[in-house]
Amino acid sequence: MSKQTEKIKELVAKREKARLGGGEKAIEKQHARGKYTARERIEMLVDKDSFEEYDMFKLHRCHNFGMEKKQTLGDGVVTGSATIEGRLVYVYAQDFTVNGGSLSETMAQKICKVMDMAMQNGAPIICMNDSGGARIQEGISALAGYGEIFERNILASGVIPQISAILGPCAGGAVYSPALTDFILMTEGTSYMFLTGPKVVKTVTGEDIDSEHLGGASVHASKSGVTSLTAKTEEEAMEMIRKLLSYIPSNNTEEAPRVECTDPVDRKEDLLNDILPDDPNQAYDMYKVITAITDKGEFFEVQPKFTKNIITGFARFNGQSVGIVANQPAAYAGVLDVNASRKGARFVRFCDAFNIPIVSLVDVPGFLPGTGQEYNAVILHGAQLLYAYGEATVPKITINLRKSYGGSHIVMGCKQLRADLNFAWPTAEIAVMGASGAVAVLCGKEAKQVKEEGGDVKAFLAEKEDEYTEAFANPYQAAKFGYIDDVIEPRNTRFRICRGLAQLANKRQGLPAKKHGCMPM
Ligand code: HXC
Repeated sequence: MSKQTEKIKELVAKREKARLGGGEKAIEKQHARGKYTARERIEMLVDKDSFEEYDMFKLHRCHNFGMEKKQTLGDGVVTGSATIEGRLVYVYAQDFTVNGGSLSETMAQKICKVMDMAMQNGAPIICMNDSGGARIQEGISALAGYGEIFERNILASGVIPQISAILGPCAGGAVYSPALTDFILMTEGTSYMFLTGPKVVKTVTGEDIDSEHLGGASVHASKSGVTSLTAKTEEEAMEMIRKLLSYIPSNNTEEAPRVECTDPVDRKEDLLNDILPDDPNQAYDMYKVITAITDKGEFFEVQPKFTKNIITGFARFNGQSVGIVANQPAAYAGVLDVNASRKGARFVRFCDAFNIPIVSLVDVPGFLPGTGQEYNAVILHGAQLLYAYGEATVPKITINLRKSYGGSHIVMGCKQLRADLNFAWPTAEIAVMGASGAVAVLCGKEAKQVKEEGGDVKAFLAEKEDEYTEAFANPYQAAKFGYIDDVIEPRNTRFRICRGLAQLANKRQGLPAKKHGCMPM
């Protein structure tokens, strides 16, 4: 055997060893936990044979607690580049089979290297978390490693899409890297995120709680809103990430990929002409409107389980990716509250940062009143949504379907927030407030008088409400002043959005020069 052949054999053997991570036993344990290994996960995510691994032979440099004898090629993270649907991505996956995926200085260097490559080459970064946190034996060097990663997450924000998949433990300060990224996905039953684990919680607050109830996928999907998506299996998780990427560009200087559209842009949806109940206080399902107007009725929802009174997600019109923000009358009448405002603002900001037009479907009775909301700063959170809409310079098309009252009318992409096209269905009620509230304010004295004179107060108020509705609860007041560009037949909604997006394809709009704004938080 020539010397060269010998060296090549040695390389192949080294690679094989590195690919085993923490070894066969640890891999078996990982599978027994219902989880895949780092390399299996990457393979599931990316195009076949597209993964190119870096730093496979990197080793940690720790000599504490006998760590010098615990060396694994590549240490506890697999990093590299690949393609998804032919588009370049960078990826890293923490390897739980190596010291529980705990983060060493070396691992941080590997992660930072691919983050830097992703930034330089304008490609999304996808991180897969499955780790016991900072490597305890390395102390402050491991913490410094987290600091390096966080700083890069911050600098990359709004430049390249950052997606975090939580596929195992993610605890302590380690949660802040995913929290700084654009989308978090958690697997049900096998992942959890919390700042302090059940034991610390028990010691400090006395509360008895397990990991799942403290920071499992369902908690963060429905209660905290930390996670954007949840998946039943890791296979489903990878499929979701691929789908999500199909709607978004590779960086902030590009547009999202355009796909061929076989759904006619002028498709009229007659069901929309008959979708609203006669009683304006009766609910209907906004999902039916969304799927009636988007290309082939497809909609990729973000945060589907969190605060259902507002719907956010991606869809396409004539093959072009858009972000949809819609009030949902079927959940709490579509009211805006603290969480709905946070959810909407987060989504609008992402779309604006990455050149994705925003289509808003408005049917909102107002902001939720009460101490629960006021004490939790609904003023600031509502302002967040307002700020996000007002700051966004991407094409913005707003359709007022039914209720659009007061502050919530302004917040949801009104003309004055620089929306480009504002359409209303003939059923729109665009006014300062609803009829009963308005009549209570305006006709209180008269009602008292009617009562004193023994008259029918109920009939009097009903008559006044009808009068108010006739005069104000319609789209024509707003159309009269040009705040609504056109009143449209509901069945033409898809066509008007498609045509609007085509008109706005070259939209250029700026913001005053500044370092950055001070968004209400
Ligand atoms: C070093 C670690 C480790 C860590 C796990 N391991 N976490 N090694 N540093 N942080 C090792 C274990 O010693 C074990 O090694 C192997 O990984 C697998 O761990 P197990 O405990 O056997 O697995 P499991 O029972 O599934 O439990 C997983 C776990 C648990 C829940 C994650 O290991 C755990 O609680 N780890 C500590 C978590 C933690 O407190 N981390 C620090 C958080 S603070 P062997 O050799 O036996 O296979 C933090 C600060 C970050 O991270 C701040 C950033 C700003």
